[in-house]
Amino acid sequence: MSEKKRVLSCIQPSGMLTLGNYLGALKNWLKMQEEFDCTYAVADLHAITVRQDPQKFRGQIYSTYALLLALGLDPQKSTLFIQSHLPEHTALTWLLASCTQFGELSRMTQFKAKSAVHTDNINVGLFAYPVLMASDILLYQPDFVPVGADQKQHLEIARDIAMRFNRVYGDVFKVPEPYIPTVAARVMSLQDPTKKMSKSDENVNSFVAILDDRDTVIRKFKRAVTDSEASVRFSEDKPGVSNLITIYSAVTGKTVAEVEREFEGRGYGDFKLAVGEAVADELAPIKERYEKIIADKAELERIFRDGDARAESVARKTYFKAMKKMGFVL
Ligand code: TRP
Repeated sequence: MSEKKRVLSCIQPSGMLTLGNYLGALKNWLKMQEEFDCTYAVADLHAITVRQDPQKFRGQIYSTYALLLALGLDPQKSTLFIQSHLPEHTALTWLLASCTQFGELSRMTQFKAKSAVHTDNINVGLFAYPVLMASDILLYQPDFVPVGADQKQHLEIARDIAMRFNRVYGDVFKVPEPYIPTVAARVMSLQDPTKKMSKSDENVNSFVAILDDRDTVIRKFKRAVTDSEASVRFSEDKPGVSNLITIYSAVTGKTVAEVEREFEGRGYGDFKLAVGEAVADELAPIKERYEKIIADKAELERIFRDGDARAESVARKTYFKAMKKMGFVL
């Protein structure tokens, strides 16, 4: 094992990834790659807790993995793998399930929210989802797990499960710390800036996909909802404009104050165009690399098989250690 601190994170391959995923998480993954020993996975097993169309799902798994490479994640520096390819993830989930209480899973806000939306499919997988996530994390003994606000509760329960297991059976798992990224931005919907940007929004103008083409990106920003004050100023009562400032600042690296100064006395038309162009410039090379990568399935497969194998050599060790401590005959 290297001297560097270890980082683990995963992303679900459910639909198109958006500018929100990029600025809120993935851009930070890229940054962490330089400083830490990073393991990143496509969490396909998590995605089936809501119904997926098998044909589309397969495409999304390839596409999400290809996008990780296109972003600049380097499969030599970081371990990039596909969750379902490693049986240890589901196997450890079963071991950890016996260290998890029904009551604590019932209190998860995401479970409550999702079961309110998918009333016809409140499946056991949806309920047990945090245990699978705990297993994703604990298998790799990471020091840090970068997570957004909506996953904090899941990381908390992963830590609780780890501590409980260690107490009952002896030390196996490192208890990871949340990592609060320095560059992450919380990106809101362009049409309703009080809601988080989401790829599942019916209104396609509300989100920018990482793979949208230049004209589409610029058009969506032109249509972004603002307000009637005509002043580029960050303020709680100006959610639309503030969201655009956040995005522009995340992409250009300028501070909020610098952005406000840059657009002082200028209209929203100018500002929206500038944000659209800055985002389009940032996404263009990613899209270009993505098209090349996705066109060569054989090479893509070679890369993920290699990532899978590297991940498995770490996961296996932890899994068998847990089995042994619990008293299984190996
Ligand atoms: N549940 C996370 C999400 O929807 C994805 C995920 C799965 C994850 N396993 C993980 C994130 C392990 C961090 C660590 O965003």
